[in-house]
Amino acid sequence: MLKDNFLLELTKQYETPFYIYNGNVIEYKYKQLQNAFANCSNFQVNYAMKALSSIAILKLMHQLGSCVDTVSIHEVKLAFLAGFNADEIFFTPNGTPFHEIKEAANLGVNITLDNIIQIEQYAKLNVGNSIAIRINPNIKAGGNKKITVAKKKSKFGLSISKVDKLHKLIKECGLQIHGFHIHLGSDILSIDSFKNSANVLFSIAKQFKNLKFINFGGGFKVKYKSDDDFININEIGLQLTNAFNDFKVSYNNEHLKLIIEPGKFLVSNSGLFLTEVTTIKDRNIFINSGFNHLIRPMYYDAYHHIRNISNTKISTKKYHIVGYICEQDFFGKSRTLNKPHVGDIICIENAGAYSFTMASNYNSRLRPMELLHYNEETKIIRKKECFKDLVQNQIF
Ligand code: LLP
Repeated sequence: MLKDNFLLELTKQYETPFYIYNGNVIEYKYKQLQNAFANCSNFQVNYAMKALSSIAILKLMHQLGSCVDTVSIHEVKLAFLAGFNADEIFFTPNGTPFHEIKEAANLGVNITLDNIIQIEQYAKLNVGNSIAIRINPNIKAGGNKKITVAKKKSKFGLSISKVDKLHKLIKECGLQIHGFHIHLGSDILSIDSFKNSANVLFSIAKQFKNLKFINFGGGFKVKYKSDDDFININEIGLQLTNAFNDFKVSYNNEHLKLIIEPGKFLVSNSGLFLTEVTTIKDRNIFINSGFNHLIRPMYYDAYHHIRNISNTKISTKKYHIVGYICEQDFFGKSRTLNKPHVGDIICIENAGAYSFTMASNYNSRLRPMELLHYNEETKIIRKKECFKDLVQNQIF
């Protein structure tokens, strides 16, 4: 945990708002995963970089030994820039234009497809690479509707009923399948959901020879507040490993790999977003930011813990912490906050995942700076945008 005094010193050095990530927390979380799956002899983490894709973070993940999950050709290219090799990059597009899939295939990265049309297009490419298939297991799991993605009617994953068609395609086009994949959603607490989805995958995987991996996706729920539930990662590691090891015996392939692809679990708790009080109106505390920088509270009603780190005097008064965007724009409603004054530093927690990566230029606002603190050193890893960034691609 970064100490408040240290954070306050940083705000004297750098203009707020800015994100700061603690690389040692990321490292700790990565090791937690390794420990949880310690009984699996062939285990791999694919970091879901959509959670936080700054190159310095990707380099840290690579250094820790992670592979990477990508969803666009630009994420693929960022991963290469960060030093990942093609075989460490996994591309899991969903409805992505086919030219991106073609480009990724030519770059030699691992590709996972989830619909028949694109599987057929891929087979015709004749690039010779085998692919993995994302399955829709028809399982409801996820913290809210927007992040529940594996129900039957969801746009993600190949429906189980299409597996016959897959067999046909393999025969007709000589397509090779080397893995199966599932991703259920985000903020998942239920271990049973993962176990049930594993069983769906096993029942399909056993019909295919020469598989290299089974990927159980991400979605592990983290803690957002002190009394919050969060997933028991050791328990899930144990249960998935046991089920996987049993399957491996019946599948008779000791090289089969178990992959997971978490985003939030690795980076959410590592990030803080530091902002400043600009003005106060009744119970509304305005800060120098808005949902253009951190949209999760507005978009998902997500809870992010918020603290006034400039005033240590405990108070029980409740406030709304609001932003400067010209719409309803809140970070937290009815929150207990130590009495705020203009200029106080407001720290928003759990700002590592889906915070910077979901930021925009709405209201012609600039995206903020990012800092990485790792092994006692704090470095800028992304400069704040400037006005030129807003206009450079416009034609007057
Ligand atoms: N794999 C796939 C294929 C995914 O689509 C995702 C997330 C992940 C892995 C990683 O899920 P995680 O472990 O981070 O939960 N913006 C939302 C979360 C959306 C996640 C989208 N896909 C939020 O801020 O809650």
